[in-house]
Amino acid sequence: MGIIERYREFLPVTDKTPVITLEEGSTPLIKADPLSDIVGKGYRVWLKFEGLNPTGSFKDRGMTVAVSKAVEEGSKAVVCASTGNTSASAAAYSARAGIKCVVIIPDGAIALGKLAQALIHGAKVIAVRGNFDQALLIVREMSEKYPITLVNSVNPYRIDGQKTGSFEICDILGKAPEYHSLPVGNAGNITAYWKGYKEYRERGKSRSLPVMMGFQAAGSAPIVEKRIIKKPETIATAIKIGNPASWKTAEEARDQSGGIIDKVTDDEILEAYKFLADRVGVFAEPASAASVAGIIRKAREGYFPANSDPDNKKDIVCVLTGHGLKDPDRAIKCLETPVAVDPDLKEIIKKAGL
Ligand code: F0G
Repeated sequence: MGIIERYREFLPVTDKTPVITLEEGSTPLIKADPLSDIVGKGYRVWLKFEGLNPTGSFKDRGMTVAVSKAVEEGSKAVVCASTGNTSASAAAYSARAGIKCVVIIPDGAIALGKLAQALIHGAKVIAVRGNFDQALLIVREMSEKYPITLVNSVNPYRIDGQKTGSFEICDILGKAPEYHSLPVGNAGNITAYWKGYKEYRERGKSRSLPVMMGFQAAGSAPIVEKRIIKKPETIATAIKIGNPASWKTAEEARDQSGGIIDKVTDDEILEAYKFLADRVGVFAEPASAASVAGIIRKAREGYFPANSDPDNKKDIVCVLTGHGLKDPDRAIKCLETPVAVDPDLKEIIKKAGL
C-alpha cells in the first residue's frame, strides 16, 4: 500500500484524486547497535532506510502526492530542478502517470545512477552550466510562465507526502523518537518531518515531539553560516545547495523542537558512509550519511545527556535518504578496487588472507 492509501486522512486528497503510486513508503526502521554503542548506554540508534523506496530515495513520498495532484488538476507536464533524486522520482512518477517530465540538472554534478534513472524513465533532461540554486530559479520562472507544474519541494504537496516518514517512525516505535537526525539540502525534508511529527501529536497518534537535528555539508552550509553560499562544495552532491528554498521553515523546525542545524565535513561524511556499509550492513548514499556523521560528531562533543536508566532508553532516528547504489563511483573511489589474478586456488587463498 502506497502512502496515499495508508495515510489518506492526513493528506490533501479526495475520492476524485487519481492515485499515482509505485507503492512507496513502508520503509524499514533498522536498529543500528554499532551506532548505539558510539552514542552510549541508554540510547538506541535507528536508521530509517529511505533508499528502499521505488526509485531509491525519500523523494517518492512527496512525488506520489505532487504528481497525483498535478494529474487531478489537469496538468500534462511537470518540471523540477534537481541534484538527482528529485529528478529520478519525478521522471518515474510522470512515466507512471503518462505525463511529460522536464528536469533541469547542474551539469556534471549529479550521481550517475540518478542521471540513468531520469533518462530511462523518459524525462527530458536538460543540463545547465550552473548549480542547483540557479536551476531552481529557472524552473520557478518556467512554471509561472508556461503550463507546467513545479514539483520541487516548494510545491506544498511534496512536503505533505514526505511528512508520512514521521508517521511510519511513530507507528513502528509506538511513540515519537527523542531525537530525529537528517541531512539538510533544500530543507524540504526537515520541514516535512517536523510537520508530520506535530500533526501526529495533534491527532493523538503520538504524545511527544523529537528534537530535530539537521546536518549540512561543511562546504554547503548556508543555514549554519547564516548566509547564501554562492559556490557550494561537497562530495555529497545531493545536498550541494547554497540557498535552500525552505530555509525559514527549517529554522522553525530547529527552534520549535529545541534542536540544532550543524555541519559535518566531507571526511566525516565519508567515514560515516563507510561505517554504515561495513559495520551496520546498510549502503546509503554519501548525503544520507551526513545524518549519521552528525550524530557521531555530537556524541563525541557530549551533546547527548547521560542516560543510566536501562528500562527507558532514548531513541535516535537517522534518516538514510537515498540508496548507495545511486552513486557507485563514490564507493569505488574511496576504496581499493581489486587487481585481477590468475584463476589459481593457491594464489586466491593467499589474496583472500585465509
Ligand atoms: N539526501 C538526499 C539523498 C537528497 O537527494 C536530498 C535532496 C537531501 C538529502 C536533502 O533533502 O533538500 O529536502 O533538505 N535532494 C534534492 C534533489 C535537492 O534534487 O534530489 P532536502
